[in-house]
Amino acid sequence: MKFFLDTADLDEIREAASWGVIAGVTTNPSLYAKIGGKLADFEDHIKRICAVVDGPVSAETTAMTRDQIVADGRRLHALAPNVVVKVPVMPEGLAATRQLAEEGIPVNMTLVFSVPQAILAARAGARYVSPFIGRFDDISEDGLNQLSDIVDAVKGYDFGHEVEVIAASVRSPHHVAQAALMGADIATVPFGVLGKCVQHPLTDRGLERFLADWKKVEQA
Ligand code: E4P
Repeated sequence: MKFFLDTADLDEIREAASWGVIAGVTTNPSLYAKIGGKLADFEDHIKRICAVVDGPVSAETTAMTRDQIVADGRRLHALAPNVVVKVPVMPEGLAATRQLAEEGIPVNMTLVFSVPQAILAARAGARYVSPFIGRFDDISEDGLNQLSDIVDAVKGYDFGHEVEVIAASVRSPHHVAQAALMGADIATVPFGVLGKCVQHPLTDRGLERFLADWKKVEQA
């Protein structure tokens, strides 16, 4: 499974990229708002992310009609060759995805919460399908079960093009572990969750002991 970073924060992106484990980035309108992003700077900001990350960078459209989504998609993809256009799953989004895919512009279909939505996204030509886990948990439903069903369903068919499932709305290392065990292609994780994935109390304790014992060696 690959790791993407789910953020628009350049400092977080630079730091995670320096660890050598980040294969891409996903952003969305809420993540851009969270960093105080301005509309006029949005496209330059996406370019800055693309300059740091050598992999797919998802930039989301907020257009609601197929023509506007296609226009947004063309403009966003023209910013850098690694821009993937993030499109919400809805009839206009599917129609736009078909058009963008035919033009060779990769689409990450977002806000996917069910197997039918995932299959439709793949059939429309989406290169990435993003089922959300945490938002199910937020309403006391099992997001991991949904992810598992979606991974099985998408892996069961040949859509005539490569389709990767991105486990999204990831809130914990447990989500990451389960996504990997289910065979999700990618987990897109907030920076905080990535940090928690690196940590383990036994690693901390073991490191402490190694350093203490090495001091004894140095003083012997
Ligand atoms: C997916 O690409 C979205 O950006 C993201 O994972 C949504 O996560 P949230 O439910 O924590 O907002």
